[in-house]
Amino acid sequence: MPNLDGKVAIVTGGSKGIGLGIAAALADAGASVVLCSRDESEARSAADDIASNGGRAMGLGVDVRKHDDVKRLITAATDEFGGLDILVANAGVGGFGPIDELEPDEWRRVIDTNLTGVYYCCHEAVPALKKRGGGWIITIGSLAGRNTFAGGTAYNASKFGLLGFTEALMLDVRHDDIRVSCVMPGSVDTHFDGSKPGSDSWKLTPDDVAKVVLQLLDHDARSLPSKVEIRPSRPKKR
Ligand SMILES: NC(=O)c1ccc[n+]([C@@H]2O[C@H](COP(=O)([O-])OP(=O)(O)OC[C@H]3O[C@@H](n4cnc5c(N)ncnc54)[C@H](OP(=O)(O)O)[C@@H]3O)[C@@H](O)[C@H]2O)c1
Repeated sequence: MPNLDGKVAIVTGGSKGIGLGIAAALADAGASVVLCSRDESEARSAADDIASNGGRAMGLGVDVRKHDDVKRLITAATDEFGGLDILVANAGVGGFGPIDELEPDEWRRVIDTNLTGVYYCCHEAVPALKKRGGGWIITIGSLAGRNTFAGGTAYNASKFGLLGFTEALMLDVRHDDIRVSCVMPGSVDTHFDGSKPGSDSWKLTPDDVAKVVLQLLDHDARSLPSKVEIRPSRPKKR
């Protein structure tokens, strides 16, 4: 595990699921963590849980679809903990269905959260990372950013777009010592799209994904794993 003492991390969508697993792992490794979700009380309670296990964390109510909310998120990290070293852009939603039933509001909810929200976070975070002389940006993509499926127009578009965004961002900032990677999980046991955690033992867990994030932060500086796919090793047979 890397030693993240003195490092400051932001995890969007950190109140539950994959984001909470990553936030807890970062705090365990010594980082001060700012996590957010739209539901402020859930974000605060997740941060309190991390703090009760000895970590340093704060929870904020932030909607990544709102540029001003994202500005407040970055400012909170720099004001409260003195800077920013790690951004994990994890917040995301599902939204599925055939195109003639996929209403414009649903399209916008998926694209604005999974793609434009990540743009806002990176746009605001990069100057703060540069001030520290470098850092990490990890976006949480999906295998749906590589494989299409029926009913996936909005979600596939958001995650294919996110992968392209992340790769271009990596090229933009790598000479500033900002290391950018996209982690692309398969099915993870979370609340995603109305799922109930605990019902599918074959799925990945948030801790599995968190382990990959920590490994990226621990990786030697000369090489950069810029895209990591992680999938259940024994998925349910179709
Ligand atoms: N679970 C899977 O099988 C799977 C597979 C591949 C990739 N992923 C990706 O992993 C990421 C996390 O998903 P998850 O499975 O952990 O889902 P989850 O259990 O539903 O958690 C999603 C988190 O994102 C937050 N969130 C949603 N919209 C937000 C917004 N506009 N602003 C701020 N926070 C927001 C949620 O809190 P609020 O609702 O309170 O805002 C929650 O904290 C997503 O990007 C998803 O696409 C998931």
